[in-house]
Formats: sequence, C-alpha cells, structure tokens
Amino acid sequence: MILSSETVSQQSLPKHIAIIMDGNGRWAQNRGKPRVFGHKKGVESVRRSVQFCTNLGIKSLTLFAFSSENWRRPADEVSTLMELFLLVLTKEVKKLHKNNVKLQIIGDLSRFSDKLQQRVFEAQTLTKDNQGLCLNIAANYGGRWDIVQAAQKLAVEVEQGNLQSSDITEEVLSEHITMAEQPPLDLLIRTGGDLRISNFLLWQAAYAELYFCDTLWPDFDDEAFANAIACYVSRERRFGCTGEQIKQLLTQVK
Ligand code: IPE
Ligand code: IPE
Ligand code: MG
Repeated sequence: MILSSETVSQQSLPKHIAIIMDGNGRWAQNRGKPRVFGHKKGVESVRRSVQFCTNLGIKSLTLFAFSSENWRRPADEVSTLMELFLLVLTKEVKKLHKNNVKLQIIGDLSRFSDKLQQRVFEAQTLTKDNQGLCLNIAANYGGRWDIVQAAQKLAVEVEQGNLQSSDITEEVLSEHITMAEQPPLDLLIRTGGDLRISNFLLWQAAYAELYFCDTLWPDFDDEAFANAIACYVSRERRFGCTGEQIKQLLTQVK
C-alpha cells in the first residue's frame, strides 16, 4: 500500500503515533555482529521516522527507546544504550531545533546520570517553543510507572486538601498522565514481530489502533511506515460505537 495525498486527506491521518522500536539485537545477530551494532543502526531509522512524520504534518511521535525493564539487560548493553542516548541528545538537537521539532523525554529520569539529565534539560529548554512535530522519547519509561506517578500527584493534592478523593475521575487522572497536553494516541506500531505492548503506553493506548509488523527496527523505512499509516487509515475506528451509529452521526453533521 502506498500513501498518496490525492486519496488520503490530512484529516484522516493519525495525529499521534507511537512506536515500540524492536528488533535491533536480532538485526545485528542476523549479520553476525554484536547486538549494540543494531542499536547504532537503529538511530538511522529514528532520524528517518522523524523526517517522515515532519513531512506528513503529524503532530506527535512517541518513540520507546528504553523501558523500565531494560535495566535487566547485560551491563555493557545498558551502558552502550546510555552512551548512544547521550550522543544523540548532544549531536542531533540542533538539527531538530532547526526543523522546528519540540523534544520531550518521558519517563523516570532520576536513574540517569547527572550529565544525561542535564542534557535532557538543555534539549527540552532549547526546543520548548517549537511548533512543529512533538517528538517524545520514552526513556526509563513504563506504562505502569506513568499511572503511578499520576496517582501520586493526585494523592498529594488530596493530602493538601485541594481535592476530595471522590473528585478523582478518569478525566482528572488523565490530566496527570504524560503527554496529556498532546493529541490522544491514534496509532501504536511495534516492529520486530512480537505481539505485545511490553509496558509501553498503557493508559494512552486504550483506544489506539495497534499495528504489528515483522520488520526489524533498523529496516523500518519510509515504505514500511507508509504501510502502517495506510493500514490505520483503512480501518474503521468506532470507539465502542457501531458503524451504523457513526454513519448516522455523519448524516447529522452534513
Ligand atoms: C529494541 O531492540 C531496542 C531496545 C530495547 C533499546 P532489541 O534490543 O529489543 O532487539 P531484539 O528484540 O533483541 O532483536
Ligand atoms: C520493548 O522492547 C522496549 C523498547 C523497544 C525500548 P523489548 O525488546 O525490551 O521488549 P520485550 O522484553 O521483548 O517485551
Ligand atoms: Mg526486543
């Protein structure tokens, strides 16, 4: 499936896309190389995807770079991933800024080195007013952590007497979940062939379309990305309604 601007209107495109970038290790192993070689190659796919979303006018792109469970990996792989993250933050931020990208790192940053936290702060500060693509990089992120940190914020408000526990609704909790200010997640892609969410955006994915493909992350190119979006556009999203109700709604707004 190839996307063409004649057949697909901007409105039908997803506004917020998230990707579980999986398969770097296998990509390297298939070539007889160490796993970290795949992570380095994966950075090119990140660059390509950011450019692709910018070209299409997508509002938000959220990339899963390091999960709260990834600390369990061998120490040398974890440190390579950290170095790579630091390098990318240092080298790529100027270009992102020039392209009007707003960069945000989501996750529990407290476990990162002071140097890395400082770079994150500088990158976010530099790009905070940019109006183009919102690029969210999930680092030491877990979907359960996200819900817990939102619950803790509400608990503080209750403790301080600013909120009653009975005031806590889905909407109120939503406001404290990461990326609350961005469009809701429309499309969640996972590369690498596994069919699971691996504790990524649990709250945000409630109504997202899920798209799984076998392509390993370093091989995820524009054609693979366009296929994912074309699949999204072709699916009928009903949010728990029937197709018939949506059709009725359409006649009402005409
Ligand atoms: C995903 O690729 C990238 C990160 C978790 C950082 P993997 O490293 O999980 O690659 P596979 O799944 O082992 O092939
Ligand atoms: C998910 O991939 C995390 C990232 C892509 C950063 P993993 O490879 O870590 O997931 P599992 O362990 O196979 O579920
Ligand atoms: Mg993996």
